[in-house]
Amino acid sequence: MIQTLRGTKDIVGSEIFYWHHLETIARELLRRANYQEIRTPILEATELFARGIGETTDIVNKEMYTFLSKGEESITLRPEGTAGVVRAYIQNKLQGIQRLWYMGQMFRYERPQKGRQRQFHQLGLELIGSADPRADGEAIALAYEILQALGLQNLLVSLNSVGDHTDRMGYRGALVDYFTPYLADLDPDSQQRLQRNPLRILDSKDPKTQTICQSAPNIWDYLQPESRRRFDRVQALLTDLKVKFRLEPRLVRGLDYYTHTAFEIQSQDLGAQSAVCGGGRYDRLVAELGGTDTPAVGWAMGLERLILLLENLQTLNPPPIDFYIVSRGERAESYALVVWQQLRQAGFQVEMDLTGAKFDKQLKRADHASAKAAIILGDSEADNHTLQVKWLGEGRQETTTIEDLFTRLAPRKNHD
Ligand code: HAM
Repeated sequence: MIQTLRGTKDIVGSEIFYWHHLETIARELLRRANYQEIRTPILEATELFARGIGETTDIVNKEMYTFLSKGEESITLRPEGTAGVVRAYIQNKLQGIQRLWYMGQMFRYERPQKGRQRQFHQLGLELIGSADPRADGEAIALAYEILQALGLQNLLVSLNSVGDHTDRMGYRGALVDYFTPYLADLDPDSQQRLQRNPLRILDSKDPKTQTICQSAPNIWDYLQPESRRRFDRVQALLTDLKVKFRLEPRLVRGLDYYTHTAFEIQSQDLGAQSAVCGGGRYDRLVAELGGTDTPAVGWAMGLERLILLLENLQTLNPPPIDFYIVSRGERAESYALVVWQQLRQAGFQVEMDLTGAKFDKQLKRADHASAKAAIILGDSEADNHTLQVKWLGEGRQETTTIEDLFTRLAPRKNHD
C-alpha cells in the first residue's frame, strides 16, 4: 500500500474541526487589528532562502527540499514564510506600512517526532515598514493574544535583543575569542561556524556545546546605548500590554535575518517541541533581498503544535445538522432529492440518505448525524407532497408540508 511520506500526515476525521476552530479565532483577531492575508507560492527560487535565511543556518544547510526544475533552475519548497512575503513586498511594490498574515504549508527535512514534521503548517504575521518599538509590541501582543484566545494558559515568552549589525560586529569578535580555546570540544557544525557565523553556535543543540555556551559572553554587554534603549522600551511596552516575558540573552533563533528583538513563545504543556511561536525584528532583510531599506517585524506559529494542545484542552464535535432525509421507494427517492434541494436553498443544513436501506436503519443514521429532525418520505408523501418530520430530541412526529416548515422555522437564508 502506498503510504504518506515520513514526516507528513493526513488531516482526517474530527481533527479538521480543531483546524477550523483555530483558523476562525486567528482570522478574527487579525481582522480586528486590520491585517490583510497574503498568499505567496510554495515554490520559490532557492537563492531567496539562501540569501534571506542565511547560508550557515541549519534550515538552509540541511533542511531544504531543493531540486532542479526541467529548465535547470534551482527551486526550493519554502521552509518558512518570511522570505517569500518580503519578496512579494518588493516585487509588488507594496508601500508604506503593511500588515500582512499568511497560513500554509512549510517544508523542512527534519527528524520527525511529535509536533515536528517535514511538511507542517505555519500561521505567520509580518508588519513591514515600521522601526517603532510599538510595532514589536503590536506583533508580540497579537501572537500572545491569539494563543490566549485559543485557551492556552501556560505560555512563556522568551525575549532577547540580538542588536544591530554594529552591535553584532563587536559581539562576534568576543565570541570568536571565547570559543577558540574550546574548538576541539565543539560539535563539528559549531567548529565550522566559528569563523563564518559564531552566533549560530549559541543555537547548537549539542549538549557539550551547550555547556560551553553557558559561560559565553552576553550580547547585552555589546549593545550600543541606542539598541539598549530600544530593548528597554520593547520590554516596557510588553509590560503595559500584560504580556509575561522572560529575558533570555542566549536566544538567537534559527534564522540569520533577525536584528534587535528576537522572541519565542513556549507552551509548558507541550513536551520536547515546546516552541509554538517564534519571531522578531528583521530590519535588513528587505534591503538584503534587493528592496529599499525597510524595517520589519513578524512571527510564525507551528499549527500542528497548537492542534496538539487544543486537542488536550477540549473535545470538538461536528456541528449538528438541521435535517436528515430518509426515503424508500422510487417515487419517494426522487421526491427526497427535490426536498433536499429546497431545504438547502432555503438555508438549512441537510443530508440525504443514499443507502436505500430499511427505514429504521436510515433513522439510526439520522441519529448518528446529530440531526435535529429526520424527514421521512415514502411514496404516499411523494404523491401528496407532504413530509413526515420526526423531531429526534423529543421523539415527536408530525405530518406537514415544506411550505409550512419554511414558515414555522423562518429559515436563515444563505446563513445570514
Ligand atoms: P521558526 O522559529 O523557524 O521561525 O518557525 C516558527 C514556528 O514554526 C516554530 O516555533 C514552530 O512552532 C513551527 N515549526 C518550525 N519547524 C517545524 C516543524 N518541522 N514541524 C512543526 N512545526 C514547526 C520562522 O519560520 C520565521 N519565519 C518566523 C518569523 C516571521 N520571523 C519573522 N517573521
